[in-house]
Amino acid sequence: MSENVIYCYSGTGNCLDMAKKIAKGMGGADIVLMRKAPAVTDATGYQRVGFVVPCYGGGLPGGVEDYVKSIQIAPSAYKFGVIQFAGYMGSGLHKIDKIVDLDYWNTLHMHSSAIWLMPHWLCFPPKSVKMSLKGLDRKAAKIAKDVQAKTVSAKKPPKRTICAVESAGFPKVNKLLNKSMYVSDTCIGCGTCAKLCPKGNIEIRGGKAHVGTNCIACMTCVQYCPKEAINVGKLTKNRARYQNPNVSQTELTETIIHI
Ligand SMILES: Cc1cc2nc3c(=O)[nH]c(=O)nc-3n(C[C@H](O)[C@H](O)[C@H](O)COP(=O)(O)O)c2cc1C
Repeated sequence: MSENVIYCYSGTGNCLDMAKKIAKGMGGADIVLMRKAPAVTDATGYQRVGFVVPCYGGGLPGGVEDYVKSIQIAPSAYKFGVIQFAGYMGSGLHKIDKIVDLDYWNTLHMHSSAIWLMPHWLCFPPKSVKMSLKGLDRKAAKIAKDVQAKTVSAKKPPKRTICAVESAGFPKVNKLLNKSMYVSDTCIGCGTCAKLCPKGNIEIRGGKAHVGTNCIACMTCVQYCPKEAINVGKLTKNRARYQNPNVSQTELTETIIHI
């Protein structure tokens, strides 16, 4: 067993990409995926316990806060959190800090991944995916070094009250988005969406995908459909799809990855 564990949620692979890079820079870690309830909740045997998650709707992806609460950590463990975002860091790290009392935190600004429904100018200054990832690799290496040295942050993660308000309303937004999701006739029933949906909310029936009502609007189905058959009303119709180039679909469905 490694000395280090990183709990990671990832919709389109950005956070898993960074979790892998941080793990490598630390000399190894077990990465436990939190797209569903984590397979390992007893983390008391680890010296360093990390969280690498994206900002969703100003807060954390649906379910993640409860998953973090379910994890047991040794009192002596060093705890760190990293949030990845397109435009602003939101209140997610503050929420995690309230649960686990982080020793260290940092942010990763992924400029170019937002198929998300926000205008692309939020990802400012505009950069290509290749350029964005290059910058992030450097930052991940710095985070790994900090974590390896058990660096303690001078300040706690900011509360960002406005983002906390946004995130409290996000489940309602999800419901509205969920209602306007549709599967077009170009669907070939390949099952990619069903396999990747973190909530098990998509079924293949009669050779076609059917989206249920338990959606957290992660857009993974929209992003990974090989036929671009899943859309949210007109919002995603002509938007470029995005998948992190360093993470495979299989990795996204793993429960634990050993680095
Ligand atoms: C449902 C959803 C909500 C998001 N909300 C925000 C947000 O409020 N602020 C922000 O800066 N980025 C937001 N983003 C962008 C993600 O934080 C960013 O693309 C991140 O790199 C995704 O990481 P992942 O690929 O590991 O899921 C959102 C993305 C999604 C899919």
